[in-house]
Amino acid sequence: MYACTVCVWGFTVKLVLRIGGSIVASPFDPALLSAYADLLMKLKHEGHTVAAVVGGGSLAREMIRVAQKMQLREPKQDEVAISVSRLVAQLLLMKLGDGGAESVPTSLEEAADSISHGKVVVMGGLTPGMTTDAVAAMLAEQIGADLLVKATDQDGIFTRDPRKHRDARKLDVLSFDDLTQFLESKKHEAGIHQILDPEAVHILKKRKTRTIILNGFDPRTVSLAVKGKKIGTVIR
Ligand code: UTP
Repeated sequence: MYACTVCVWGFTVKLVLRIGGSIVASPFDPALLSAYADLLMKLKHEGHTVAAVVGGGSLAREMIRVAQKMQLREPKQDEVAISVSRLVAQLLLMKLGDGGAESVPTSLEEAADSISHGKVVVMGGLTPGMTTDAVAAMLAEQIGADLLVKATDQDGIFTRDPRKHRDARKLDVLSFDDLTQFLESKKHEAGIHQILDPEAVHILKKRKTRTIILNGFDPRTVSLAVKGKKIGTVIR
């Protein structure tokens, strides 16, 4: 259970939801994007403080490939991917209407300010050389979030890669220290795909921010995680 404020049906959380571009934008899934917008508003109406960070998915990777073929350097490749992630964030924000922030924040301070005014924030990337996992972790640190949920294309963290090994077992709970061993610490490359960026783990570990990795193809899993139900892999 979280150390949270009491609300109508139990407790409220300060949530950062990291929505994988791999699930909403690879290819673009308008129904799933709309379902996430509905979920964000539902959580807000339940009294939770909500911020989302979304990635650019396959379009971001395609733009990175175009930039590579044009011999543009890695920070430039990252920049086009960031622009795509902000477009996806803009789509979600527009669907939120008045409940959402006016525009996609381009700094953590701007995001925190909108959140303090009761708005649902949706961000994309921030700076070249990182991933939106790291952005979500930094935002969680900035606003003192109780919970970070990563909605991804796998049911959680497995003992081995479930796409390659049939005997892979899903882990229900993992400590931050154990997680570091599961993640290969790779140098940043534009477009890299990881279950959770080690840089994000490093940031989350400092405040021991409860983190849940779950399958985001059904947004109802996120509601269950917020209610404290057993789902995905919990890192604590
Ligand atoms: P992500 O890998 O975070 O997006 O960013 P995603 O599409 O949600 O990925 P999945 O679903 O977790 O796999 C895509 C790329 O955008 C650039 C990087 O090149 C990153 O690999 N990026 C993103 C930045 O350079 N800075 C940021 O702050 C965010």
